[in-house]
Amino acid sequence: MSASEATTENPATQPEVSSWAMFRTLCGVALFSGLIIVVVYQTTLPFIMENRRLATERAIFEVLPDATQRVTFSMEADGPRVIAEDEAVLEKFYAGYDDDGNLVGVALEGAGQGYQDVIRLLFGYDPEQEQVIGMTVMEMRETPGLGDKIADDPRFLANFEALDVRMNEDRSGLLNPLVAVDQGDKEHPWEVDGITGATISAQAVTRIIRNNAEQHVPYILEHLDRIKEGLS
Ligand SMILES: Cc1cc2nc3c(=O)[nH]c(=O)nc-3n(C[C@H](O)[C@H](O)[C@H](O)COP(=O)(O)O)c2cc1C
Repeated sequence: MSASEATTENPATQPEVSSWAMFRTLCGVALFSGLIIVVVYQTTLPFIMENRRLATERAIFEVLPDATQRVTFSMEADGPRVIAEDEAVLEKFYAGYDDDGNLVGVALEGAGQGYQDVIRLLFGYDPEQEQVIGMTVMEMRETPGLGDKIADDPRFLANFEALDVRMNEDRSGLLNPLVAVDQGDKEHPWEVDGITGATISAQAVTRIIRNNAEQHVPYILEHLDRIKEGLS
């Protein structure tokens, strides 16, 4: 038989593969793939967690510039409780202290919808001055060159070095509305100078901090004495 005759063989004459054999092969491939995914996940998880921990650690000292040491608290109904680093709690915050053990501020985590996806950030709050004293973006997928300026534009970040978040008398809300204004229009210490072309991202950051401050600042102020003793 010539080579050309061999390649034109009728497929109907080829041996038939049984459905059971195909099913077994498919199951094998699926099991193997699943196993690979589980092994890769389990192997990389500790590294991912450690990187997250280091990033949070860096961020805490970034948003609390005068802090040299810190303590993690869980927010509980009967007051804040010092917790171990790996303790899983519903809500927590970080208190920062100077070398002499004086409280210099607390760092709070916040998240909310940005232009593209969820923005996760950490901001520092000084309970004595009732001001936000620092902000860093932990996670975002805003557009490069536009929305991502919320993370690295020094002019925008300067907004959060002394941002007024005083509470009203009965601590039911902020004394002044924390809002993002058009770039260059900031007049008051409770306004955030926005980013031209990325108004939505700038407003998102402002909204995240406003919601978080309204929710947690009354708790921080109420339990300030306990937080000040955090190192003892
Ligand atoms: C492709 C594309 C990506 C954009 N990404 C962002 C973004 O990440 N953040 C943002 O606030 N606006 C983004 N914008 C712009 C918004 O649609 C909107 O025009 C802008 O936030 C309004 O800001 P302005 O009032 O200063 O013009 C994007 C627009 C386009 C076309």
